[in-house]
Amino acid sequence: PRIAVLLSGSGSNLQALLDQHAAGALPATFACVLSNRADAYGLQRAEAAGIPTAVVDHRQYPDREAFDRALAEHLEAVGVDLVVLAGFMRILTPVFVERFQGRLLNIHPSLLPDFRGLHTHERALEAGVEEHGCTVHFVTPELDAGPAIVQGVVPVHPGDSPEALAQRVQVQEHRVYPLAVRWFVSGRLALTESGVALDGQVL
Ligand code: GRF
Repeated sequence: PRIAVLLSGSGSNLQALLDQHAAGALPATFACVLSNRADAYGLQRAEAAGIPTAVVDHRQYPDREAFDRALAEHLEAVGVDLVVLAGFMRILTPVFVERFQGRLLNIHPSLLPDFRGLHTHERALEAGVEEHGCTVHFVTPELDAGPAIVQGVVPVHPGDSPEALAQRVQVQEHRVYPLAVRWFVSGRLALTESGVALDGQVL
C-alpha cells in the first residue's frame, strides 16, 4: 500500500512512522509527504528518508474547497491508499474527507471525545483531569469526531505544565500511530457502517 503523510510542522509523528518502516515493521511505501507550509521541518525529515515531498500552500487558494480539491488532485495523481494526517493544521472540508473516507487517519492530542479542537493540553490541565492522552481516529466530516481506533493514555501529574504534558502525550503518539497505520496497511483495519473493525471485529 502507498501512504501519504500530510503535516504542517515538526513531523515527529512522521519520524515515528519512518523509524518503524526502517525497522521493517511497516509493510508499505511512503508515496509522498505533503505540507501546506514550505518551512515545515517534517519536509526535511521526508527528504532525508528519500521520500518525495510537495507543498500545497493554502494561501494560494481562494477558499477551503479549492485548497482541498488541489490536495486531493495531488494525492490522486501520486496514487495513495492511505492518507495519514500528522499535525496537519488545516480543517478539511467534505470535498476532501468524502473522497478519502475510510482511508484517512488523524491523530488528536486528547482522549476523544474530550477536548476536540486546539490547545488540548492547556484545557486538560484547566479541567483538572487525572488522565490525558491521544487518539488515532478515522476522519469524518465533523472535526475530531470520527470513530476512534486506538488511544494512548498518560497520567497528569500535579504541577504539570502544558509542555511537560504534551511531551508525555507525544511518547504515546509515537507508539500508537505506527500501530494503527500498521494495522491499516496489513488489511486488518477498516471503517464499516457499524464503526471501526479490527480483524473483522467491531471495536
Ligand atoms: C501532535 O501533537 C498531534 O497530535 C497533533 O499535532 C501534533 C503534531 O506533532 N495533531 P508532530 O508534527 O508530529 O511532531
